[in-house]
Amino acid sequence: MKVIQVGIGGMGNAWLGAVQRSPKVDFAALVEINAAIADQQAEAYGLDRSLIFRGLPEALAQVDADAVINVTPPQFHREISVLTLEAGLPVLSEKPLAGTLDDARAIVDAAERTGVLHSVAQNYRYRPLTQTIKRVLDSGRLGAVGAVSVEFYKGPHFGGFREEMPQPLIVDMAIHHFDLLRFFLESDAHSINARSWNPPWSWYSGDASAAAQIGFASGVQASYVGSWCSQAFETSWNANWRFDCERGVLRAQDDVVRVQRLLDVGADCGALRNQHSQPEVVPPVEMAREGQDYLLDEFVKAINCGGSTATSAQDNIATMELVFGVVRACETGEAITLA
Ligand SMILES: NC(=O)c1ccc[n+]([C@@H]2O[C@H](COP(=O)([O-])OP(=O)(O)OC[C@H]3O[C@@H](n4cnc5c(N)ncnc54)[C@H](O)[C@@H]3O)[C@@H](O)[C@H]2O)c1
Repeated sequence: MKVIQVGIGGMGNAWLGAVQRSPKVDFAALVEINAAIADQQAEAYGLDRSLIFRGLPEALAQVDADAVINVTPPQFHREISVLTLEAGLPVLSEKPLAGTLDDARAIVDAAERTGVLHSVAQNYRYRPLTQTIKRVLDSGRLGAVGAVSVEFYKGPHFGGFREEMPQPLIVDMAIHHFDLLRFFLESDAHSINARSWNPPWSWYSGDASAAAQIGFASGVQASYVGSWCSQAFETSWNANWRFDCERGVLRAQDDVVRVQRLLDVGADCGALRNQHSQPEVVPPVEMAREGQDYLLDEFVKAINCGGSTATSAQDNIATMELVFGVVRACETGEAITLA
């Protein structure tokens, strides 16, 4: 399969690597608006410089391609994704589906209208840690989940578009954790209360910290707290998680999953009957492919077999509704109910 990758700087590196590692995919062309980045990446990855175009329309007119990988900043996603779908080619786009909810809905409409696949790279789903958590929850050994808490603290100095966004933490980062909540719970958000703020030392113009209480349609309550301008005691990018379940607790802390089970000691023990097993470390799931490699392989299979992907635009719009529901709750200070 031949693809055109649009945007080859920044996160484009992860996709250049994934395509070069894949035995099933080659580049038909690349698109990059910044000539210096185009020169540098042609050198670094051994790319044919004459196949790096400045705009997608030129590339589509001059090469034969089967699909487009969109790795541009969010404000360009709508234009590139809709143009590609209307040209009849499937899209694999970096998250967020789009920079705004209206743009995201326009992409879903284009995918529906054309019947062409649009998939979103929610790569955090395809990591050993998240697959390990999912496997324990799905095994039923801890019973039903009642509540989840998520704690995320990092202090990256990215520069670029993130430092200008009104809600960088929620729209560019917490989107991964919110999408994971949907993945783990197999349910969509229903009610949201949230606040965001920008600590005095923050280097972002928008709010770098937020807290949200999210009720899911299944009845599970999730509490999220995060910051992108933490000055110490950072968590991993995956965040720390705690699932309070009917028969025990699962914790993922510093990327290690542990479970502790409630012991069945019987009602005769009265007030002392809440006894627990020793905490056990759950060995990480082994994956043949992770992250971008997994997503690319899933995308190729879906195209070849005429199917879809787990994170199609039609599915991912629910992650976008959740993200922008949290933004709306922060901006209005009101409780939000999602349809
Ligand atoms: N899934 C993840 O873990 C993850 C991590 C980082 C970034 N991202 C996402 O990847 C996307 C890109 O982010 P980034 O950090 O690489 O941004 P970036 O600004 O570092 O890089 C974007 C690249 O695209 C190029 N570009 C911009 N507009 C273009 C256009 N219209 N046509 C062609 N090229 C264009 C830029 O010159 C640059 O080389 C964003 O949607 C971001 O949220 C995802």
